[in-house]
Amino acid sequence: MSGVKREASEWRAIKGLTIAIDGPSGSGKGTVAKMLAEEIGLPVLDTGLLYRLCGFTAMERGVALDDEAAVAGVVDALLDGIVWTVDGVSLDGVNVTDSLRSEAVGAAASKVAAMPSVRQKLLGLQQQLSAQGCIMDGRDIGTVVLPDAPAKFFLAASVRERARRRWAQLKHQSDSSLDEVIEELKMRDQRDLERQHAPLKQASDAITIDSTTLRVEEVVDRMLGVLERRALIQAR
Ligand code: DC
Repeated sequence: MSGVKREASEWRAIKGLTIAIDGPSGSGKGTVAKMLAEEIGLPVLDTGLLYRLCGFTAMERGVALDDEAAVAGVVDALLDGIVWTVDGVSLDGVNVTDSLRSEAVGAAASKVAAMPSVRQKLLGLQQQLSAQGCIMDGRDIGTVVLPDAPAKFFLAASVRERARRRWAQLKHQSDSSLDEVIEELKMRDQRDLERQHAPLKQASDAITIDSTTLRVEEVVDRMLGVLERRALIQAR
C-alpha cells in the first residue's frame, strides 16, 4: 500500500464510536487506522504497543519469555506506570514507543501475548480507554476487547506483500534479507494464529479487506463507505 495526500476531511464520527481493526503483522492496520482517524476525528490506540512493552521489559529484566508466572509479575509491576495514548506508550513519564519497534521486541511481544494471564491483565486497560470512542488496532479487538464495536474490520494481505512492506520499513535499520523477513513473519503468524487464548481470528461480523493490491486510500475509502452506510459517521 502506498499513500497520497487527501483532501480535508468531510466526516465526523458519531459520539463514542468504537472501531475495531484486526489483522496479521504487516497488514497495514497502523497506517490505515491513522488515516481513518484523521478522516473522522477519532483517536487511534495501538494495542500491539502494550504487548511490545511487556515483552521488552521482560527481556530487559532477564525474565525467560516462556515463564508465564514471571512475565505476569513483570506486567503487574508495569501496569501502574503505563500511560497509553494516541502518542504511544509512556512508562514512568518517558515515551518509550520508539524503543519498541524492532523485530526482536515484536518477537518477544508475540511470545508474551500467547500467555492468558498477560492478556487478561491488559484487557481492562484496553476496555477502559475505549469508552470515549476510538479506533483500536490489534489481533483480538473485534473478538475479545470490543465485541460490541459497531464497526469491525479485518485487514488481510499476502505474506509476501506484508513481508515486503516490513522489509522496506526495516531496510535502514537491519540487514535482514526479504526471505529472512518472510520466514520471521510466517513464524509470527503461526504463533498469533495458533495460540489457545484469543488467537488472531476474524470476528464473525467483521468486514474483511484484502489490501495486497490496494493503496491505503482505497482501503480507507472502503471503510468510510461502510461507516457511512451504517450512519456511524456524519458529514461535517
Ligand atoms: O501489532 P504488533 O506487531 O505491534 O503486535 C506485536 C505482537 O503483539 C504480535 O505478535 C501479536 C501481539 N498482539 C496481540 O496478541 N493482541 C493484540 N491485540 C495486539 C498485538
